[in-house]
Amino acid sequence: MDKVMKFSDIYTLSRAAAERFVTLARECIEEHGHFSVAFSGGSTPESLYALLATDTYAPRIEWDKVHVFWGDERCVPPKNTDSNYRMAHYALLDLVDIPEANIHRMRGEDPPEEAAATYEQELREFFGEKAAWPRFDLIFLGLGDDGHTASLFPNSDALSVTKDWVTAHYVKLLRVWRLTLTAPSINAANNVLFLVSGSKKASVLQKVLQAPYSPDDLPAQMINPIHGSLVWLVDEEAGELI
Ligand code: 6PG
Repeated sequence: MDKVMKFSDIYTLSRAAAERFVTLARECIEEHGHFSVAFSGGSTPESLYALLATDTYAPRIEWDKVHVFWGDERCVPPKNTDSNYRMAHYALLDLVDIPEANIHRMRGEDPPEEAAATYEQELREFFGEKAAWPRFDLIFLGLGDDGHTASLFPNSDALSVTKDWVTAHYVKLLRVWRLTLTAPSINAANNVLFLVSGSKKASVLQKVLQAPYSPDDLPAQMINPIHGSLVWLVDEEAGELI
């Protein structure tokens, strides 16, 4: 059973996620000298990122030892309003002293397959060429109301990618190209933290957590870290059916 923690609203949920970030960053930096975290996109994490930039949290984090990656990206340029990088840049990264070299953006502006290959190479340079999978210290994930997470969409080609760390695929439903960490990459992480907020997510959250395993329809069910922890931070509205 995954660990599910309920909070009254998105703000108390975001504060809990920010505290977890600070604690994990301190522990990982003490243990192995850096903290590798993959950000999720969409709208839910924006208040978390903004919180991390405030005086309550930013001074408690050794930003020069934090390496930020993304779990997925839209295939758009970094200045495009759909860019997950852009959202995190304005909410957090432009407001804290994190070295540019520590920000590992997926190049959404490049041809998708090329961008996926480039990102996989960047991950291999960071986590080691001989590593079987990237071992992120923390991966944030969201949950789409169709059961997707990162850019692992229902019935998409990305779900059957089992060897690559990163893949690019055309999401027929949205008629867009996306870049995403593959399920095995995510499942190799030391800590996976879902943030789920709002009544629109209540039904899909109940299915993901309680319905029979059906990964093609509910890709978020594929997330089951081999070694690491899996925790769901949900607000009352999203968690009303569980
Ligand atoms: C993306 C995200 C995606 C997101 C969910 C939830 O690129 O859109 O990575 O997986 O986490 O779609 O999005 P919301 O937080 O906007 O509901």
